[in-house]
Amino acid sequence: MISPNTIQQILSRIDIIEIVGGFVKLKKRGTNYLGLCPFHNEKSPSFIVSPAKEIYKCFGCGRSGNSIGFLMEHEKYTYVEALRWLAQRYNVEVEETEISPEQKLQQQTAESLFIINNFAQQFFSNHLLNTEEGQDIGLSYLKQRGFREEIIKKFQIGFNPEARDSFAKAAIEAQYNIDLLQKSGLVAIREERPVDNYRGRIIFPIHNQSGKVVGFGARILKTNDKAPKYINTPENDIYVKSKILYGSYFARQAIDKADECLLVEGYTDVVSLHQAGIENVVASGGTSLTPDQLRLVKKYTNNLTIIYDGDSAGIKAALRGLDLALEEGLNVKLVLIPDKEDPDSYVNKVGAADFSAFIAANKKDFILFQLAVSLKDAGTDSVKKSVVVNQVAETISKVNKAEDFTRQQDYIKQSAELLKIEESGLHALVNKFIREKITKEEGRVNRKEASDNFTAVPQPFEIEDDAISLLNKDELQERAMVRSLLEFGLKEWEQQQRVADYIFTEIEGNQLEEMIDNKSLIELIKTYKTWYDAGLEPNPKTFLYHEDFTMSALAVSVMDYPYEISPNWKNIFEGKIATREDLYKEEVFSTLNYLKLRKIKRMMDENQRDLEKETTPEDQMVFLQIHQHLKKMEIELTKQLGTVIFR
Ligand code: UTP
Ligand code: MN
Repeated sequence: MISPNTIQQILSRIDIIEIVGGFVKLKKRGTNYLGLCPFHNEKSPSFIVSPAKEIYKCFGCGRSGNSIGFLMEHEKYTYVEALRWLAQRYNVEVEETEISPEQKLQQQTAESLFIINNFAQQFFSNHLLNTEEGQDIGLSYLKQRGFREEIIKKFQIGFNPEARDSFAKAAIEAQYNIDLLQKSGLVAIREERPVDNYRGRIIFPIHNQSGKVVGFGARILKTNDKAPKYINTPENDIYVKSKILYGSYFARQAIDKADECLLVEGYTDVVSLHQAGIENVVASGGTSLTPDQLRLVKKYTNNLTIIYDGDSAGIKAALRGLDLALEEGLNVKLVLIPDKEDPDSYVNKVGAADFSAFIAANKKDFILFQLAVSLKDAGTDSVKKSVVVNQVAETISKVNKAEDFTRQQDYIKQSAELLKIEESGLHALVNKFIREKITKEEGRVNRKEASDNFTAVPQPFEIEDDAISLLNKDELQERAMVRSLLEFGLKEWEQQQRVADYIFTEIEGNQLEEMIDNKSLIELIKTYKTWYDAGLEPNPKTFLYHEDFTMSALAVSVMDYPYEISPNWKNIFEGKIATREDLYKEEVFSTLNYLKLRKIKRMMDENQRDLEKETTPEDQMVFLQIHQHLKKMEIELTKQLGTVIFR
């Protein structure tokens, strides 16, 4: 973990104009900068960077965020990678925080496994290219299959000799720990002696996103019914199969550029297509795609094209789990390679141009394809067919984003045709699944502390009938209060007291949850308070660059709110136009008072309802007294209340 101190240093040096300006040509326009949006194609600029707010925003595609968000979006960095990039750029030395002994052990294990894998990769490459056995057996096999030396080197393909322990011996001689060697999957213990696991096999190293070797796929050379064709690295601290797509390190830029990711089954398919110049390709290893793998694809593109050989057992595996891809909004297409070829053999046979042309011409829609396959399986069995109808309805129901509405209609029409059933019936079935899904989701949202509910949707509450505009305004008032806490919290309120102290005393007496409806804002205030109480000095940046994206997105939207000072205030200062900076005390006071007032109004409503329930005059009297008390408070507050006007 990067230490808070380092993060603080990095954040204090961030200049969003410099950072974004490194990737986008920006021109100054007033206080802001303007350029062509790097996230969508446009001819006239609608991408604005505000140095004051330290955020960017595109009015074309709606993307917005801070400097770190920009690096994450544009460069596909993780939060930590973005921080490290910035640290390097601003010459900040990265200091790591203390970690627990278990974490440390795990980190050390991971680090050692990377080192062992790196050693092994070099050993295998060296043996393939520079030894007689490697050249005669391994290299000649690869060449005979059409792989050229430059692609073999690029993918760092290697060879493990036949002898029972040539790698193990070298590794032990180089002082590598035998337990870790076993963990890496490279070495096993047989009859109390270390032996190689991948004897006499071609070795495909598997790289992670940053190009480090996390594992290997080892292919047998002879045909042998007893031995498996491939032996793969077992799961360990660095090799987690469900998170890896073979080739993603070499494909990422090409995927971004083509805005399409091709998915094939095998190692050799990836390497051959690369050699042919088709580089936007990754392999799943013939299993169904996992959510993590889909997310990996989605980082680069929304278009996933699956290319499998026609009679592959892998097709069905690939199709499983793809409903998830639909829900994630991925466009999934499918191409089947004809005549018992696979992508590797097919591209070798017809060449790159024809291969690409074939892909383009034969892309099938995934939903309809899935339907056709299942229908064929069901045959004439009507029970099986009804299962298929249900399945396709459920799948189609997952394409129910607003923008995909017509797509959904098309699917219903085409599927009904294939199934030979009435379109309206299928339509009704799809709707049923959509309703079910919504009910389920509502349950989920209610359970989950609505922590991500910070978006423009205000939280419903039970006062003042149905006035949505009022709700909106109230939401703005809540944001205004939080904004003044973020911006002015550390300023002086009264002697020995800061704005934050004042706000927290006021809130404490009034109970945060009763004053603020938006749960995410409450979360933000609480976080502020924890930091503040711990003697840290939270400011807008602390939140704008918060590691938790919910938090930083919320901070961006809070800081970005349309917000103006009431003309009254200007009058008070006799024509002198005061800035928010000058008037921060009034702003804090008035935003807080507004929320207090709202709370009192709600209490009065409740009191009124209770009053109506009582029948005896004595009991009613109690509520009347409460009412009068509340009314007095209301009048007092209204008098004091400065007005904050929203555009
Ligand atoms: P294939 O049998 O299609 O192998 O399995 P391939 O990659 O095309 O290899 P060649 O062209 O026949 O030499 C596809 C993928 O399934 C996984 C591997 O990832 C392989 O690349 N697989 C296959 C295994 O993990 N173990 C096996 O025994 C077989
Ligand atoms: Mn193959």
